[in-house]
Amino acid sequence: MLRRLHAEQPESFAFTPANQAWAERQIEKYPDGRQASAIIPLLWRAQEQEGWLSRAAIEHVAAMLDMAYIRALEVATFYFMFQLHPVGSVAHFQICGTTSCMICGAEDLIAVCKKKISEFPHKVSDDGKFSWEEVECLGACSNAPMAQIGKDYYEDLTVERLAAIIDEFADGKIPVPGPQSGRFASEPVSGLTSLNVREGERQGHNASVQLAVTLRDTVKRIDGN
Ligand code: FES
Repeated sequence: MLRRLHAEQPESFAFTPANQAWAERQIEKYPDGRQASAIIPLLWRAQEQEGWLSRAAIEHVAAMLDMAYIRALEVATFYFMFQLHPVGSVAHFQICGTTSCMICGAEDLIAVCKKKISEFPHKVSDDGKFSWEEVECLGACSNAPMAQIGKDYYEDLTVERLAAIIDEFADGKIPVPGPQSGRFASEPVSGLTSLNVREGERQGHNASVQLAVTLRDTVKRIDGN
């Protein structure tokens, strides 16, 4: 897939004051002459602030690091984690389409996205709230099919559950991430065969999901520290 800058670009980009201060602290971590090493965290923070990387944002970061713009553009276009097109104002859905997820129903999940969000990947929905794309393996194959939504993983998805998750985000809710099948983590779907947890000792969520529930920042943009 060609990774090109979006056809429509904003005139300018600026970090929020808090993000600017954060970016300057990152640059200070590197020895003199090596400031360019901060390129990925700074591009990432620009994306966390705006949702995607515009040409102006890439130029702004390149200028902060005293880099040629083409070098910053090379980084932004190389890594698929950088969004080069505007994303939905509420959430961007990344559906894993690699082998495990594909044989467990990823194509059906993509059909849900096409129906409920937009026909094409990287095209924002008519209400501006959502966008989606197919991505490569996200490393949660034992909980296939799965999707990354914002910062969190939603696993063991079904067509019905993904459609409900989209509706919940549209209603301003943050669905609980993690396995959507009732599984605690990635144990066998038929139940544990070893390391059984005694009745009453199992916690409500695994540590990763519990942290996500505590932070509730799944789709939150970062405008500060
Ligand atoms: S194949 Fe989907 S997470 Fe690995």
